[in-house]
Amino acid sequence: MHDIVIISGSPSVDSRSQKVLGYIGDRLNEKGLSIGHISVRDIPGEDLMFGNFNSPEVTGTSEKIRNAKGIIVGSPVYKAAYSGVLKSLFDILPKDIMKDKPVLPVMSGGSISHLLALEYALKPLISTLKGTTLKGVYYLDSQIDKTSAFPIQDEELIQRTEVQVEELLGKMGVEGVFP
Ligand SMILES: Cc1cc2nc3c(=O)[nH]c(=O)nc-3n(C[C@H](O)[C@H](O)[C@H](O)COP(=O)(O)O)c2cc1C
Repeated sequence: MHDIVIISGSPSVDSRSQKVLGYIGDRLNEKGLSIGHISVRDIPGEDLMFGNFNSPEVTGTSEKIRNAKGIIVGSPVYKAAYSGVLKSLFDILPKDIMKDKPVLPVMSGGSISHLLALEYALKPLISTLKGTTLKGVYYLDSQIDKTSAFPIQDEELIQRTEVQVEELLGKMGVEGVFP
């Protein structure tokens, strides 16, 4: 059982959004929280394609989410919404899997014009699974350095990320982790 489960919705091997999620996870780990990671890449394609609700990977994923106190969901913007493969995973999870859990949504995109994908796409999806969404953070590709252990390049964006993570922790009943 983990304090927080981080779900990555990018199908890319060398993923920007996953790099950001990894960074957030590492920071939380350093502060003594237990972090579990789930990636759409770890779920067999057949399960996603044919809706295999009962495969071991899918039930194991559900179990991990159900046992966490908080969740972080990350996705790249694909065609003005979340990735299709993230939707495929969420489609085969139990409908109330995020019930009563705070969820921090994060997205990365090539363009600022799709910033609202957080509002009209990812947040409603999380709400459908009964998660309580926080404001969330949107990262532009130009603000992420995939090659660095500190992938968020913008100081103000680091601050905003920390505020959102702090809010997630507050909703989980954990206070004052970040200075
Ligand atoms: C198939 C595809 C569709 C995309 N569609 C959009 C889009 O509609 N709007 C946008 O801002 N960026 C779009 N992008 C850019 C990605 O959102 C951006 O590069 C993102 O950071 C990739 O994240 P990842 O490396 O974690 O997969 C698209 C990229 C791909 C590969």
